[in-house]
Amino acid sequence: MYSKIVMDHFQNPRNVGKIKDADGIGKAGTGNCGDMIEMAIKVEDEKIKDIKFLTFGCVAAIAVSSMVTEMAKGQPVGEAKKITNDSVAETLGGLPENKLHCSNMGADALQIAIKDYEEKKTGKTREN
Ligand code: FES
Repeated sequence: MYSKIVMDHFQNPRNVGKIKDADGIGKAGTGNCGDMIEMAIKVEDEKIKDIKFLTFGCVAAIAVSSMVTEMAKGQPVGEAKKITNDSVAETLGGLPENKLHCSNMGADALQIAIKDYEEKKTGKTREN
């Protein structure tokens, strides 16, 4: 049912946890199943220096979160902005049709974290 890559990221998730003094935080969830992802980024010289996630969710949601952190870590912010739900699912070797909604939270949480970072940088504040 799941690809080997998905199972690997589920069994050995990368970059789990929180970041103290994170520069941006993004939360995303799916209304239906109640699962949710919190993604935190630390930015230095406009690059994602560190990224961590906490996910309350299914196998796919955890694998997606882990993969997003691997794809974004070390990338310039501009490149990380190009990570989409589709590119994450593709890098994971695909997801079963009924699990595609799980992949929709991963990149969303990252993009919200980047937006949060950019808004803080420009002095705006956001309620979440
Ligand atoms: Fe809810 Fe996968 S079943 S995120």
